[in-house]
Amino acid sequence: EGVTSMTLKVNGTARTLQAEPRVSLLDALRENLDLTGTKKGCDHGQCGACTVLVDGKRINSCLTLAVMNQGKEITTIEGLAKGEELHPMQAAFLKHDGFQCGYCTPGQIMSGVACVQEGHAKTDDQTREWMSGNLCRCGAYPNIVAAVREVAG
Ligand code: FES
Repeated sequence: EGVTSMTLKVNGTARTLQAEPRVSLLDALRENLDLTGTKKGCDHGQCGACTVLVDGKRINSCLTLAVMNQGKEITTIEGLAKGEELHPMQAAFLKHDGFQCGYCTPGQIMSGVACVQEGHAKTDDQTREWMSGNLCRCGAYPNIVAAVREVAG
């Protein structure tokens, strides 16, 4: 199979990798760049576990090819904290117990960041609607909404 070289800008750093042109952004992050904070749930756009930000907008990284994201700013869960200082959304998830098993949490947090940035966290209902693409099998939804709402202020 043909392998191609591509460069992705992830969390502020340009990273070059070799992969098949058909590799998803999710697999490139996890398998080529060792950024395993982004999770693979369904691999079909149904669960939100793979949510990352591309140029500030959230996307399901399982649904986009890595090559198509060259030249864009990709932010993963690993890029949120500043050294030892958690991002406010991470701190709010801790404070409100916004997770149980934690598998969906990176995707929830990335969606939550986009929710607040784009002004969709003005009410609980609006927040629930925005976050509805991020599934949580443990059912931590009320705590997740509380965390996002706290960051929204
Ligand atoms: Fe991408 Fe489920 S792994 S939406």
